[in-house]
Amino acid sequence: MNSILKTKNDLFNIIYNRRSIRRFSNEEVSNEVLEKILKAGFRAPFAAQLCSVVYTRDSEKMKKFKGIGLYPSTKVFMIFFIDFRRMEKIMTQRGHTYDFDDGMTLWLGIQDVNLAIENVILSSEALGLGSVLLGVVPLKADLISEVFNVPDRVFPVVGLCLGYPDLSVETSIRPRFPLVHSAFEDSYKDLSEAEVKECMREMDEGYLTQGYYIKQRAKIPLKEGKDEIDYDKYSWSEHISRKFSQRRWSDDTLFSIIKKHGFNIK
Ligand SMILES: Cc1cc2nc3c(=O)[nH]c(=O)nc-3n(C[C@H](O)[C@H](O)[C@H](O)COP(=O)(O)O)c2cc1C
Repeated sequence: MNSILKTKNDLFNIIYNRRSIRRFSNEEVSNEVLEKILKAGFRAPFAAQLCSVVYTRDSEKMKKFKGIGLYPSTKVFMIFFIDFRRMEKIMTQRGHTYDFDDGMTLWLGIQDVNLAIENVILSSEALGLGSVLLGVVPLKADLISEVFNVPDRVFPVVGLCLGYPDLSVETSIRPRFPLVHSAFEDSYKDLSEAEVKECMREMDEGYLTQGYYIKQRAKIPLKEGKDEIDYDKYSWSEHISRKFSQRRWSDDTLFSIIKKHGFNIK
């Protein structure tokens, strides 16, 4: 078989079989493996290389991040940053002064970061590792800056717990919305009520069948009133609706935290 085709098939296998891993074995992640996956991360397309990673394998250091949901068996904890500091140093060496919209700078930075992350995730899968992202990280930017000595104009986007999967824990592939309701040719499709229901059914049945929230005990409590939904009915669409209908994690808005870290956004 054509070797290029085979390689592409391998990649599809990795992508279609990836699932978040939250329990890791005791096996350490070597320098060689780390270098390989990080190198793959930084091979991603980029707007301006506005991405840096800080990682630790030190379990004592990791304990400081318990409050951001770091899973206890994590072997490597990585944080991906939008990094404009390095770019400004380059500009200074070239004798230029920054005059750009910080909103757009951040936007480009997020894209550089996200592309790098996906490469890290997929290449680590290819080497037998598993991972899960942590999204609360930007709201904990003060703590992260303190623990990792991060200066202004460098801002955390997301965390990644990494390690070899604990194979005694069964994990399933999570559902997604039907493709026809997410990818549109030629014109955006504003979903009808029935189509929205199809999206919800696909996700809810998948998550309920897998017992996802029961296993994780990850129910979000209601802000007020009696919770009538037990775990046997607590589904993805209920979870995600609860998530976006109540502010948790931080009293500050994300934009106010970003501002505190040296970015000028209005
Ligand atoms: C930006 C982002 C933030 C996330 N944050 C968390 C998190 O804080 N804790 C967690 O357990 N999973 C987190 N996840 C993982 C998602 O819950 C997971 O990707 C989703 O449920 C789909 O499951 P799958 O990755 O197994 O396909 C995050 C994923 C993304 C993309």
